[in-house]
Amino acid sequence: MVLEKIDQLAREWLEEAGNRIFMALEQTNIEVEAKSDRNDLVTNVDKSTERYFAEKIAEHFPDHRLLGEEGYGEEITSLEGVIWVLDPIDGTVNFVEQKRNFAISLGIYKEGIGELAYIYDIIGGEFYFAKRGEGAFVNDVEIPKLSADKKLEDALVIINTAAMHKFPQTLAIIKEARGLRLYGAATLEYMAVATGRADAYISANLAPWDIGAGKIIAEEVGAIVTRVDGTPMTITEKGASFVASPGVHAEILRDYLGK
Ligand code: IPD
Ligand code: CA
Ligand code: CA
Repeated sequence: MVLEKIDQLAREWLEEAGNRIFMALEQTNIEVEAKSDRNDLVTNVDKSTERYFAEKIAEHFPDHRLLGEEGYGEEITSLEGVIWVLDPIDGTVNFVEQKRNFAISLGIYKEGIGELAYIYDIIGGEFYFAKRGEGAFVNDVEIPKLSADKKLEDALVIINTAAMHKFPQTLAIIKEARGLRLYGAATLEYMAVATGRADAYISANLAPWDIGAGKIIAEEVGAIVTRVDGTPMTITEKGASFVASPGVHAEILRDYLGK
């Protein structure tokens, strides 16, 4: 079965890519470039990691397509067939500045449906995995389903600064919540919600590779993933994203973002 083969190879490649990134952190000559603005960074390590996956996918699955951040894949306009959605390093600013709090993110979509997902927090030693309909796991331990009973007043929320500017209602959400947390890597922010370490994450500007894996894992534990207006998101779009446990998602939409 092709999904089993994909799963086996994806795990091997993630382990190898993780080792290479770990070794690269020891080097003093990481090349850093700014892309769309001075805080949108890419390094030679982001590029070589994506190129590694692009070569492996082309070799083993020539009819599959890659949707990746650094341009080694294809421009994807349709959801047909198998698409590998890859962020080789999510949290590149953290990679450069902190040498931690970043992850490799890989989601596998078949005819537009998320089937397999992997987020590998290399330094944190956490490997998140989900298979559609079969639960989500961190280091092979199943992640419990999220409670629908949580209230915003008891919740930790993650709201990036761009979302605070774009959606001024978020300031009232922060005021009502128990606290605000920011991690600087969308994948890890999705995983904070999936594991109940936080209860909601609102971001103004995510791309498919930021959420390709996180959406699958979060939905597998019962989180609700939508645009900020509550409508469903597709994997090819860029824009604002809102993920939360079910009760907190409903409360935020009803009392704040939906108004
Ligand atoms: C970024 C991070 C960041 C989010 C940005 C993303 P990158 O990804 O996930 O937390 O706020 O929107 O672009 O560039 O480090 O892969
Ligand atoms: Ca990213
Ligand atoms: Ca990236």
